[in-house]
Amino acid sequence: MAVRKESLVLREESLIRITGPAKIQVKKGTVYLLGLKLAKGKSITVGVGRTLALKAIENSELELFLGPAGKAEPANPREEILDNWIRAAEMLSREGVIVVLGETDSGKSTFSTFIINTALEKGLKVAFIDTDLGQKDVGYPGTVTLTFPKQPLTWIRSLQPYSSKFIGSITPYNAEECVIASTLKLLREARGKADLIVVNTDGWVLDEKAVKYKTSLVSAVNPDKIAVMEGFGQTRFLTKTLEKMHYKVFNVPSPPSRPLKTRSQRKFYRETAFASMLLSAQRLNINIRTCPILNIPLGLGERYLEAELKIERLLNSSVYVERLHNIATVITIKDFQAELLKQMRSELCRLLKVSTLSITSLEALRSLYIGLQDKQRNLVGLGIIESFDIEKSQLLVRTNIRDPSQIYYILAGSIKITKQGEEKLKKSFPCFT
Ligand SMILES: Nc1ncnc2c1ncn2[C@@H]1O[C@H](COP(=O)(O)OP(=O)(O)OP(=O)(O)O)[C@@H](O)[C@H]1O
Ligand SMILES: [Mg+2]
Repeated sequence: MAVRKESLVLREESLIRITGPAKIQVKKGTVYLLGLKLAKGKSITVGVGRTLALKAIENSELELFLGPAGKAEPANPREEILDNWIRAAEMLSREGVIVVLGETDSGKSTFSTFIINTALEKGLKVAFIDTDLGQKDVGYPGTVTLTFPKQPLTWIRSLQPYSSKFIGSITPYNAEECVIASTLKLLREARGKADLIVVNTDGWVLDEKAVKYKTSLVSAVNPDKIAVMEGFGQTRFLTKTLEKMHYKVFNVPSPPSRPLKTRSQRKFYRETAFASMLLSAQRLNINIRTCPILNIPLGLGERYLEAELKIERLLNSSVYVERLHNIATVITIKDFQAELLKQMRSELCRLLKVSTLSITSLEALRSLYIGLQDKQRNLVGLGIIESFDIEKSQLLVRTNIRDPSQIYYILAGSIKITKQGEEKLKKSFPCFT
C-alpha cells in the first residue's frame, strides 16, 4: 500500500480536516481533536472513510502518513463546527445521563467521543451505552452494550463491551421494546459506577414510528440532557416533541463536510464485524434440553410424537414437534412446509390440542444469528446455527464462546449470517430480553 509522508506546519488557531487512512504525529506544539489535547510526541490513527477536524492550540508541526484515500486539507472556520462542539461538549460533560440523538451520519458517535473525552479530562467517571444495533461503536451488531472508557479515546470502536444484551436484529424496528428494556438494564448496571452516562442511539429518526420509539427510549432513560445532532433536519419533529416534554435539548450542528455512508458501506461494516467474530469461532454441540432457545421456543417442552405422526401424514415428510402445556412448536424440514402449516394454523391447533403454535423450519434455523446467555441472564457469546439434529436434540453452532458450561439458554435473532459472514435478513422470532 502506498503511504505518503507529509509535514504540516500549523499556526495557532488554524483548523484542518484529516481524512483516513492516516496517521498523525505531533512533532511540535499541541493540537486539539475529539475533545482532547494532543501534545508533542503523541500520535493518532484516522481509519478509512473517517474524517476528523483538528485545531492547533499553539503553533504546531505535524507529520502525516497518508494512505491511498487519505488527505489533509485546511478547514474554513465558518463551515467547521469544531468550536461549537467544544462549547457543547463542555456544557454536557457534567454529572448525569445524556442521550445523543440524530439521523445517520450526523456525527453522533464522534460527538459522543467528544463528550466522553471532555468528561474524562475533567476527572469524571464515564459510562457509555451503545444502543445503535447496526453501526455499532462498541461490540457486535445486534447487541446493546455498556462500556466504561477509562482513558481519553481517539477511536471509540477500540473499546470492548463490559456488558452486552442480545437483540439479534440490525435495526430497532419491531424490536423497540427489547432495545429499551436492554438499555434500562445497562443503565442500572452503570449507575453508581459512573458520574456521567452517555447513551448513543441509531439514526432512525424520521418517520412516525421512529419518533415514537425515540420518545419512548428517552422517556424510559429519563436523561438530564439530550444532544440532538442537527444533520439535514430529519430530527426536527423529534426535537420539537422532546422540547414540549420539557427535556433539556441541546441542538448540535453536524459537520457540513462529513462523508455520508451508503447502504452497502453500512452492510460491509457489519459484515466485517461478523467475519471477525467467525474468525475466532469454534464449532460447538449444544443440547436444547439443557440450553433451550427461549423465543422460538425450542427445548422447553416434551417431544410430542403423536402430533409428529399426524403432521407427517399431512406433509408426507418428517417433522419435529414439542409441547409444553398448551403451546407447541413445529419444525418442518423446508420453509414452504412451514408456510403451508401456518395457513392451517387453527385446524392444526385443534388437531394438536394446543392454543398456541410456533411453526418454523430447519431451513429457517440454518445460519440463524443467536445470543448465548449465562445463568445471570448476561450475553456471554454469539453464534450461528449450522444445523439441528432432531434425534439428538442437538444444535451445531459456530460460536466465539470457549466455555460451553457457561451457556444456560439461547435467544434467536432475526438475521442470518453465512459462513463467510454475509448478512441475510429473515423474518424474526419474537424479540426477548
Ligand atoms: N469535523 C468534521 N468534519 C468532517 N467530517 C467529520 C467531522 N467530524 C466527524 N466527521 C465524520 O462524519 C462521519 C459521520 O460521523 P459519525 O460516525 O460520528 O456519525 P454517526 O451519526 O455516528 O453515524 P452513524 O449513522 O453511522 O452511526 C464520520 O465519517 C466522521 O469521521
Ligand atoms: Mg454512530
